[in-house]
Amino acid sequence: MRHSMGKVYSVALVLGLLLGAAAPAAAKAASTAPTIRYDAAHKLFRIDAAQVTYAFGVDPDGMLQTVYWGSRLAANDPLGPARVSPGHASFDSPGSTSPQEYAGWGGRITIQPDLKAHFADGNRDLVLHYAGHRIDGDALEVELRDIRLDVSVTLRYTADPATGIIGRSARIENHTAQAMTVDEASAASWNLPAGDNYSLRYLTGAWAREWRLQTRAIVPGAIEIGSRRGSTGDQNNPWFAIERGGQWNEEHGEVWFGALGWSGSWRMRIDQDVLHQVRITGGFNPFDFAYRLAPGQSLQTPVFYAGYTADGIGEASRLMHRFEIDSVLPARADTKLRPVLYNSWEATEFKVDEAGQEKLAEAAAKLGVERFVIDDGWFGARNSDHAGLGDWTVNRDKFPHGLTPLIGKVHGLGMSFGLWVEPEMVNPDSDLYRAHPDWALHFDGRPRSEGRNQLVLNLARKDVADYVYGVLDRLLSENDIQFLKWDYNRNWTEPGWPEVAPEEQQKVYVAFVDNLYDIIRRLRARHPGVEIESCSGGGARVDLGIMGLTDEVWPSDNTDPSDRLSIQDGFTYAYAPGVMMAWVTGSPNWVNQRSSSLDFRFLSSMQGGLGIGANILEWTPEENATAQRYVAEYKRIRATVQRGLLYRLLSPRDDSPRSATASVAADGRQAVLFAFQRQGHEAETYPALRLRGLDPKARYRYRLIHGEAVEGTPAEASGAYWMNQGIELKIRGDLQAAGVVFERVGA
Ligand code: DGJ
Repeated sequence: MRHSMGKVYSVALVLGLLLGAAAPAAAKAASTAPTIRYDAAHKLFRIDAAQVTYAFGVDPDGMLQTVYWGSRLAANDPLGPARVSPGHASFDSPGSTSPQEYAGWGGRITIQPDLKAHFADGNRDLVLHYAGHRIDGDALEVELRDIRLDVSVTLRYTADPATGIIGRSARIENHTAQAMTVDEASAASWNLPAGDNYSLRYLTGAWAREWRLQTRAIVPGAIEIGSRRGSTGDQNNPWFAIERGGQWNEEHGEVWFGALGWSGSWRMRIDQDVLHQVRITGGFNPFDFAYRLAPGQSLQTPVFYAGYTADGIGEASRLMHRFEIDSVLPARADTKLRPVLYNSWEATEFKVDEAGQEKLAEAAAKLGVERFVIDDGWFGARNSDHAGLGDWTVNRDKFPHGLTPLIGKVHGLGMSFGLWVEPEMVNPDSDLYRAHPDWALHFDGRPRSEGRNQLVLNLARKDVADYVYGVLDRLLSENDIQFLKWDYNRNWTEPGWPEVAPEEQQKVYVAFVDNLYDIIRRLRARHPGVEIESCSGGGARVDLGIMGLTDEVWPSDNTDPSDRLSIQDGFTYAYAPGVMMAWVTGSPNWVNQRSSSLDFRFLSSMQGGLGIGANILEWTPEENATAQRYVAEYKRIRATVQRGLLYRLLSPRDDSPRSATASVAADGRQAVLFAFQRQGHEAETYPALRLRGLDPKARYRYRLIHGEAVEGTPAEASGAYWMNQGIELKIRGDLQAAGVVFERVGA
C-alpha cells in the first residue's frame, strides 16, 4: 500500500502526563508536556520532551540533517535551518560531512549509511530525500524517497514524556516493479555536536561474567559493538553512553545514551568523522544479512531509543530505569513488584521429582517465598543436558501424577508456580528431532554443530513457530502455571533455511525474532496471568525488545554474591534493578568455591528482585531464621529497591574492594542503603556514605537491616545531614556488608 505523505502538517502534539509535585530527580523532568512541531519556514522538526530538545531539518539538497540534540531550549529559541556542510577537500563530500539523520548509500555518501540496497537490475545507488510527514497519534512520521526509484523509507519518532527518551525506527518499502535486496538497515543514526572530547561506555561480558562496563576515548575512526549470534548475546549488550568532557561522573556532565529494542543479531557503530563529528548508527547486524523485498514488500527495523542528560551517568541510568519500568515492560506502570522466588536449579539440577520438589516447596514457603519455580529436568528424557529438549511433556518417572498435585501443593502453601522452558531449542536426542530433523537451522548436506548438545529450531518457519506456540499454549492451558523462566542456551551456527528459495534464506535473521516476539505476545494475550523471565544461559538475552514482552530477566548464572556486586553494578547502567533477579545460593558458591555468610548473600541479592536458589533442605534452623528475617525485611523495602531511584555511591568496578548503592522511593519516604566490602584492611575505616536523592528538609530515621553504625550516629537527622555528613558504618574484614533503611519521619 502506498502512503500519501506529501501533505505537510504543522501540529503541536501533547503527548504526556503531568507528574505529582513530590516526584524525584529522574521524574521531575516530566513537568512539561512534550511537543512535536514542524516549522515550515525553516523546514525544521522539533521534539521537546522532559528536559530534552531534539531537532532536525530538511537541507537545501532535500536531505535530513540533525540540527540539535541536548538540554531543552526555550520554545522561541531559533533553530535551523538545516545546512549542507561545506565538506572537507574533494575527498570528503558535503553529504558525507553533514550530520545525516538517515542516509541511503548512494550519491556522494561515503560514510556509514543507514540503508544500503541493491536492485535486480544491478543498480546499487539510493539517494533519500524528504517527501513529506505526518503526525500519527503520538508519533511523528517522516517519509523519505529515492530521487528516481519508487522506494520509500518512513522514519518514525516517538518521545517519552517523563524522560525525554526518543524512539526511532524505519520502515523500508519497495514500490518498484523489480526486487530489491536490503544489504544493511539501521533503525536510526544519532548525531552529537561536533567535538573532540567524547568517551564511550559500553557493556561486555561472557558466560558467568556478564555486564562489565568498558570506557574508551572516541577518536577518529569507528568502534563497533554487536552480536552475530542470532540473539542479543553477552559479549556486548545493545546499550551505549557517550560523555562529553573527559571526566566521567555519576552526577555531573553531559551524557547521550541509548539502547536497541532487538533480540536478534545487532550492531551499533560509533564513528568520528574527519570533522570530528560523532555519529551512532544502530540496527540489524549487516553480517550475512540480506533481506529481499519483492515489489510491494517492506522491512520494519527495530526501535533504537536514545536520551540525553546534563546530570551525569547516574541520571542517565535512572532515566533508562524509569523508561523501562513505565514504558517498556508489558504491563507498564501496573507491573507487579517482583515476588520473592525460589528456583530449584542449583539445589537439584536435573534430579527433580515430585517428592523432592514438594519438600523444597514446603521449606521455601516457611521462609516467606512467594513463587516456586521448577527449573530444568521436569520433561521428556531430560536427565542431563544431552537429551529431551523439544519434548515438552511431563516426565512420568519423575512426576507420576503429572504436575497437578505439585502445583496444587505449591498453591496450597500460598505460592505461585513457575516452570523452566527452552522452547527455541532441540536436542538431537529427542522425539521432536527424530520426527523433524529439518526443523533445526541447518544447511542441507552440511554438518550441524551442537552447543550444549543442542540445535536451534528454525523459528522463522511458520510450522515450527506454530508448533512452539501450540506446545506452550497447551502447557499453560493444562497446568495452573503463573510463571515461565524462558531460557536460550546457545548461539546460532550454520543458520540455513533450505526450505525456502536461496534468495529468501537470509531473512531468517529477522523472521526468527519476529516470530519469537509474536509467540510471546500471543501467549501473553491468551494467558494474561502468566509472567515470563528472559534468561539466556545467564544474561545473554537482555535488551529493550525482549523486555517489552517479559517481566524480569536473569542477569547471570554466576550467583557468587561478591562477583554479583560487579555484575549487578554493570547491569544497572542500562537496565532497571526492578527487572534484575538475584538469588541467594549455597556456600561455597559453585562458580568459584568462594564461601560467604548468609548475611552477605542476602544483602547482595536484595539489590534486585530477591530469589533463593540454595538447597534449603540443608539449611540449619539458624539459617532458616536468618533467611525468614531477610525475606520479611525485603518485602518492606522492595518497592524502593525495584521502583526507586538508584544512586551508585561506591563502585565495585575494576575489582574495587568496596561498593555501595542507595535506592530512594519515588515518593521520597524511604531510602535503602547497601554497603559491601569484598576485602578489608584492618587499619582502614569504611568511608562515610553520603546519601543522594533525599528531601533535604525532611527528617529521616534510620534502622539497620544488618551491620552497625559508628558510635554517635544520630537516630534521626535531616535529609541534608544524611546527604552531606552521611553515615559511617562499621564494616571491617573480608566479605562484610551492611544494610540500612531510612524512613521519613511524619507525613
Ligand atoms: C541456564 C540458566 O541460566 C540456568 O539458570 C538454568 O536454568 C540452566 N540453564 C538450566 O539448564
